[in-house]
Formats: sequence, structure tokens, C-alpha cells
Amino acid sequence: MEKKELLTVKGLEVVFESRFNQIDVLKGVDFSLKENETVGLVGVNGSGKSTFALSLMGLLPRNAKIVNGSININGSDMIINEFEKDSYNRKRHRILVNEGIEKLRGRFITMVTQEAASYLDPLLTVGYQIFESVLFHNKERLIKRIDSREKVDKGALLNYVKLLNSKDYKIADKFLDGNFDEYIREQILNITRRDDLTDEDKKNLILALGRAKLSSVQRFVLSHKGVASRIPGLRYILNQLILEEGYQLAGEILGLMGLDPTILHMFPNQLSGGMLQAVLIASAIVNNPRIIIMDEPASSLDPIAQYKLFNLLSKIKATFNLSLILVAHDISLLTRFADRIAVIEDGAIVEVGDTSSVINNSSNEYTKRLIKSVINI
Ligand SMILES: Nc1ncnc2c1ncn2[C@@H]1O[C@H](COP(=O)(O)OP(=O)(O)OP(=O)(O)O)[C@@H](O)[C@H]1O
Ligand SMILES: [Mg+2]
Repeated sequence: MEKKELLTVKGLEVVFESRFNQIDVLKGVDFSLKENETVGLVGVNGSGKSTFALSLMGLLPRNAKIVNGSININGSDMIINEFEKDSYNRKRHRILVNEGIEKLRGRFITMVTQEAASYLDPLLTVGYQIFESVLFHNKERLIKRIDSREKVDKGALLNYVKLLNSKDYKIADKFLDGNFDEYIREQILNITRRDDLTDEDKKNLILALGRAKLSSVQRFVLSHKGVASRIPGLRYILNQLILEEGYQLAGEILGLMGLDPTILHMFPNQLSGGMLQAVLIASAIVNNPRIIIMDEPASSLDPIAQYKLFNLLSKIKATFNLSLILVAHDISLLTRFADRIAVIEDGAIVEVGDTSSVINNSSNEYTKRLIKSVINI
């Protein structure tokens, strides 16, 4: 079956404006990304890779302007052409970014920006920085996760574990969908999908979801959030509960990635570059996006850490059914991990194709130079 296209870009042109001049940075970029696909975007410094990535996110800097083209994300046009008449009755063409991108950004499509690791806050734990976006944009999800454990039907949990025992996973999946709310389901799935736990451990953890108990004060503040948030002592209890749930969620994500959850309470300076990249990936997937753009995730890592990072990306891609755009200037990194490679030169895609055919049979001079530059090293 033909895979669905999640992202289609046609003829994208972006300029940077200053008071005195205008630089054409993207000169008509065509690009596409299908469901569950990894596309590598490769080009030398200054070829426009980051500008392209930021345009997809609707995050171009103020002095940048889209002057032509279309960006379609999951069926919606992100660029709106507006034609209006000015006071001299001349037709004017304006290009606007669809405000709908706000709803998709961070949820449907998300990005780990270049040098993002250096923007991690040194005074906040990495765990906090993984769930921070949920705390600010979807606090309700954390509350509902706590609530879902309070209300979960323990008999149903037991039945589900029995179905897992019988190894009839189709029936188990059906049971999971039919008997639990979205929030407890998320927690159960985060346990069952882990590959570092034995089946026995998984079952115990699932059953433990039904035993998590709140104190009566905690239950009160959760069910009377409005009141509680106006009374200092209770507000503290409410905030503490929500924070703990954030750490719980961040720990689940790390578990899925096969990483040690003890790093949750560490600070960025205590982690290696590779681990910091992993933390950034965790913070990108915490909201269940479908597309992740990684802008030069590996450029500051040594070869072994690079390799580990890309393996980790392949793993989470499979677990979360993600599509990835991997931006790199080193084409060799992409050969093992990308399904397709797009080569960008001076603001235009000069070649795109299946990874093996780009690496082995390219007739494009620029692509050949990129490949040669790696082999020569
Ligand atoms: N904020 C800006 N204002 C003016 N020009 C900019 C701005 N950002 C980027 N440019 C210019 O746009 C061009 C493309 O830059 P971009 O950062 O997209 O390249 P890149 O391929 O990501 O490079 P690198 O490999 O160094 O990350 C460059 O010539 C750069 O000077
Ligand atoms: Mg860049």
C-alpha cells in the first residue's frame, strides 16, 4: 500500500531582508515526507538547511519572509496567499503563515533545533526539561493521568494481564482499547512497549497502576483545583502532585528509549553530549508527535556517540511510528539511517532519491563532492 504523505513542500522560496538588501536563501525547494519514513537533508554550511527546517515549523526569524511556494502538513496548507487591493487600487499579494501551525507545532510536528543542547537550562533537572512543555501547554493531561489511576477498574487490569499471559495479543489490544481511558492506556502502553523489562516485570508494573493511591488531601486538591490553587498550602500540594506526575511521564519516556531513569534528577552539566541529545529527543516525543525534525543532532558528538544516537532514533521511530527529517552536513551518517536523501545546494534541492542510489549512483557533481569529502577524511 502506498504510504501517506505527511508533508509536502513545493517551490518554497525564502528571503532574508535587511534595511539595505535582500538575500535569497531558499530558491524553490521541493520536498516530501511519508508516513514512517526517514529523510536525510544534507548540504554544506549555509546551504539553507536550518532555514528550511524553521519554515516547516513556522518559526522563521522576523527578518525572514516566505515569498513563494506551498507547505502542506497532514493535508492542511500552512501558507496562505492573500490578494488584496491597496489604496491605489493596485493588486497586492501577501503570503501569510497559517495560524493552524500553532496547533500542529510540538504536537504533530516538532523539532530539535541546532545547538539545542546549549539552550538547556543548567539550573533545572533534565527530567523537568523533558516534561516542561506538557506542564505549560497541557497541564490537564498530567492531572488526568493521576486521575486515571485513581479511577481505574482493578478487575479490568487483572483481566488484561491475564490476556497478556495467554499471549493472545490481538484480543489483549482490543480489551485495552475497550476498557480503559486514554490516559491509563498511555501508561499501560508505555510499560508494555519497553524492551528492557521481562514480561513478569511488565505485568507487575501494570497491576501497580491500580494500587497507586492518593492521600485524602491530595484527592481533595485534585477534585477542587480551583479552590486549591487559591490557598497557598493546598496550591503547594497541587503543584507538587503535578510535578511528580511530570517526572513519572518523563521516566516512562526514558524507559521506552531504554535509558536509565536515574538521569531524571540530574542537571545538564552532569550528562554527556550524547545523553543531552537523548534528553532533547525525549522532550520532543513527550507530546506524541508524528514528525520530528532533527537539525544537526550529531555535529558535536564523537563518532561512537553519533552512532549510538542514530540507533536510538531508529528505535524510537519504530516505537512511536514516527517520520524523521535528519539534517546533517555529513552524508556518511545518513547512509545507515535514512530511507531517502535530499541534497541541498545553495537553497535548492539538487538531488533526491533512495539512499543507496544517491550514495552509489549519483551523477550530480555536488553530491559526489559531499560523498568524497567524507571518504577522504
Ligand atoms: N537570521 C538571519 N539573517 C540573515 N541571514 C541569515 C539568517 N539566518 C541564516 N541566514 C543566511 O541564510 C543562509 C542559510 O543559512 P542556514 O542557517 O539555513 O544554513 P545551514 O545549511 O543550516 O547551515 P549550517 O550547516 O551552518 O547550519 C546563510 O547564508 C545565512 O547567512
Ligand atoms: Mg543549520
